[in-house]
Amino acid sequence: MDIDKIAEQLEQTGYIALANSLEDVLLQGLLRRCQDDGSDRFHAAHVGRGTAKQKIESLRGDAISWIETNDPVDRAYLERMEALRLELNARLFLGMFDYESHYAIYNSGYGYAKHSDVLQGKKNRVLTTVLYLNEDWQPEHGGELVVYDPSGETPILKVQPTFGTMIIFLSESFPHEVLISNTTRRSIAGWFRVSGS
Ligand code: OGA
Ligand code: MN
Repeated sequence: MDIDKIAEQLEQTGYIALANSLEDVLLQGLLRRCQDDGSDRFHAAHVGRGTAKQKIESLRGDAISWIETNDPVDRAYLERMEALRLELNARLFLGMFDYESHYAIYNSGYGYAKHSDVLQGKKNRVLTTVLYLNEDWQPEHGGELVVYDPSGETPILKVQPTFGTMIIFLSESFPHEVLISNTTRRSIAGWFRVSGS
């Protein structure tokens, strides 16, 4: 990763899309981990928190598995993101103190309606990352990430979820949606956070 370029573009536009963001061996390991093996590792994602929490497939259709440090591949990924956290803090003074992330699998026919990653009453997500793990992705598979301007009205970027592509953006500034995917779509979504709410 070219840290200087990432920091510069985050400062100028608030987002950056990187092709080949991580080395292939790690990406292959992450793809293997992003498989629903029938164990209880993956569960349906929910929208909202606490009593407002609900599972609404029409809004959000992914199954997720939080990334933990007890798997070596997960740990390798978290180490890379930890290095990114420290380097971005040093350049941009974002004060990010940790990183939470999960694997996500969207089955064919599902997406994620337009939303903000910053939840009401929990404003600690600073920077969103999404890493895509789809080999041989074709335009007709749909499933693009559409990033909107801060007003949420105008699309400013469309990202194909191709293997190794990573998008990074300021969590609070950019509403976004996942268009309906016509095939299984795999990714890792993550958030660098500041402490407190
Ligand atoms: C999310 C999300 C985008 C994507 O999980 O919050 O917006 O492209 N994911 O998977
Ligand atoms: Mn999101």
